[in-house]
Amino acid sequence: MHRISILICDTFILMLTLLYSKFIEIGGALMTSLLKGRYFGTVVLILLVNVYLSIGTYLQWFRLGFFVGPFRFAHWLAWTGVLFVAVFTPLYYVLKRRYAKRVKALLGIHVLGNLLSFTFVSIHFASQVGRPPESFPDLGAGIVLYIVMMVMVLTGIFQRFQIAKNLGRQWRFLHTSVAISFYLVIFVHILQGLQIL
Ligand code: HEM
Ligand code: HEM
Repeated sequence: MHRISILICDTFILMLTLLYSKFIEIGGALMTSLLKGRYFGTVVLILLVNVYLSIGTYLQWFRLGFFVGPFRFAHWLAWTGVLFVAVFTPLYYVLKRRYAKRVKALLGIHVLGNLLSFTFVSIHFASQVGRPPESFPDLGAGIVLYIVMMVMVLTGIFQRFQIAKNLGRQWRFLHTSVAISFYLVIFVHILQGLQIL
């Protein structure tokens, strides 16, 4: 019995050590990126603004349900975000191969543009999940889309700032393959939103 408890303790300590060293590794990579990355600060700032605006919309500090023409304001934000991602991503794919010299600038637009788009989409998402119980939407395609966007943003950040570098190929694979799901699901969601489906 005594031996078993020592074995369990040892395993536990080993696991803690491994976890700790992983933390140090990721923390170190993060610090290096902070110093190296030219716009790491901007990325963090956009993410913080995103969290603030999303919480504010969810808790209804800001009321965004008003109409601008045929759509609510929050829906216009969703349109803007989705259009940027939908148009600029294939464009980035083509342009970076055609104009190899401009790849840094193109990547900057890809990263910052998509992060801003994610912020716009987050406001739409928060306004939907913050609706009162009597008019709460049937969650479906929208939830899938939001998870897909979060995966794209996370794997994008991991690639851009070389966090957990040894998994670089996996991040790239996830980032690109999930982008394809985005196109499939957004199509269904827009048709549902426009009440065509
Ligand atoms: C990645 C982008 C988007 C995300 C993450 C998202 C997320 C959501 C979520 C979570 C809902 C609640 C219902 C559900 O889960 O399906 C919803 C509803 C809605 N979305 Fe989006 N959305 C996005 C883009 C758009 C766009 C571009 C439009 C423009 C047509 C749109 C229009 C609507 C409408 C009209 C509803 C209300 C549906 C209802 O009242 O039942 N969404 N969205
Ligand atoms: C949210 C929507 C996004 C979509 C749909 C998207 C899509 C893509 C696609 C399809 C590629 C592959 C391009 C290629 O193979 O040439 C790519 C590459 C990349 N993306 Fe994104 N991305 C998004 C957001 C982000 C964000 C927010 C970041 C960073 C914060 C990011 C960072 C990167 C990086 C570093 C690459 C690799 C660049 C390269 O090797 O040329 N992406 N993205």
